[in-house]
Amino acid sequence: MQDAFDALKSLVEKHGQSHLIGHWNSLNSVERDLLVKEIHSIDFDELRRLFIGNAKGTDWKQLASRAKPPDAVRREELAAHRHAKSIGEEAIRAGKVAMILVAGGQGTRLGFDLPKGMFRIGPVSNRTLFAMHVDSLRGAMKKYGVEIPLLIMTSPATDQQTKDYFAAHNNLGLRDDQITIFQQGTMPAIDASTGVILLESTHRIAMSPDGHGGIVKALSKHGLLRTCAERGIEHFFYAQVDNPLVTACDPTLIGHHLHRGSQMTTQVVQKRFAKEKVGNVVSIDGKTQIIEYSDLPDEVAELQNPDGSLQLWAGNIAVHVLDRQFLENCCLDDNALPFHRAHKAVPFVDASGSTIKPASPNAIKFERFVFDLLPHAAQALVVEGDAAEVFAPVKNAEGAATDTPSLSRFAISNRFKRWLAAAGVESEASCVVEINPLWALDADDVKTKIQAPSKIQSNTYFA
Ligand code: UTP
Repeated sequence: MQDAFDALKSLVEKHGQSHLIGHWNSLNSVERDLLVKEIHSIDFDELRRLFIGNAKGTDWKQLASRAKPPDAVRREELAAHRHAKSIGEEAIRAGKVAMILVAGGQGTRLGFDLPKGMFRIGPVSNRTLFAMHVDSLRGAMKKYGVEIPLLIMTSPATDQQTKDYFAAHNNLGLRDDQITIFQQGTMPAIDASTGVILLESTHRIAMSPDGHGGIVKALSKHGLLRTCAERGIEHFFYAQVDNPLVTACDPTLIGHHLHRGSQMTTQVVQKRFAKEKVGNVVSIDGKTQIIEYSDLPDEVAELQNPDGSLQLWAGNIAVHVLDRQFLENCCLDDNALPFHRAHKAVPFVDASGSTIKPASPNAIKFERFVFDLLPHAAQALVVEGDAAEVFAPVKNAEGAATDTPSLSRFAISNRFKRWLAAAGVESEASCVVEINPLWALDADDVKTKIQAPSKIQSNTYFA
């Protein structure tokens, strides 16, 4: 017993983190066990490297000066999209596609206490984000007559409540063997000026999810790449839980991916203005990669083509298609995805045991981003979508200028109004309209359902 404690003590002392066991004498045995487990999960050397690396950083100005627009299939290439759709549908029918939904984020900006997937967003149905995604997937399974496995990544912040939610709602219509909920890894938050690890309580380290890029390590750790290979899965359709306009396993995107022999394909939208707060998908020295809006110098962001359009036009919306084999290769390299640093206000317990709630950022959190896989792809592809059709994320609380629940509901209803209008059904401006993907997956499906022109005069849910 004493030996184990001595080993723990020398471990934290060696790394200058003795404060982690500063409250040891006041802890009960359960608390001690929890703390020991967390301490042993930390790679102290890596953390130190990440802290010291702080000073260097990437020279974005230099990198951005070489940025060109990416190799992309543009929106207006309608024949190419039609062709791609049929290729994608064939791959889905053949059972080669699985869906990944990342839902491990803490959703701090939205200020919702439960996992964001449980947020109700259906403008008429009041369905949750999880239900919107699962219905979209079930719609694809029904249309293509195939099983499509759903892999949901959670984090300690969202895992139990997500599992309880799915259990309480019959997996939203999926069988147990059609859904896998698994946890991503965590990283400790450190004090921004000293590099010491912050304690969340006297016996818990301030841990946060390791970013959506944690998907690579988590898929491999939970053996999911192997089980997917055994099921014949070749491609993953990746989406984030907070965008209800995602079409699960979008056949057009998958088809472009296959047609071009891409290892990673990403859907983008045309940026509305130069400094819009989205990642910029660009090509640098022949490699596709993303430069965050905050890292792109104004003078580069504002560069225009002769017709006045933006040179760097492609905005990331975090919808990707990834080859299983490509992910397997990336898993072999622990550093395929770098950690990014985010300065955040993280509450912590001090030496006296009091909780300090800083008003301004005091800490560094470390996150990996899935889009950093793009430059690793031997072949990557960018496909442009129409923002009004594919992107209405729920990021911010009501009252913010962008990405709020109301704006998302408005965009959902407008998309379905357009689909209905194309089939001869007009809607009154004041009406809210929603279509369940089990009723119709896309505008073409709607046309097959509508027999005669009509008008919608009250809020309507087609299900
Ligand atoms: P965001 O970066 O927008 O973060 O995540 P968030 O947690 O939803 O919200 P804020 O920044 O705290 O307000 C984009 C997507 O990536 C997932 C989120 O669940 C969301 O679907 N994500 C993010 C993870 O799965 N794990 C993470 O560690 C971070």
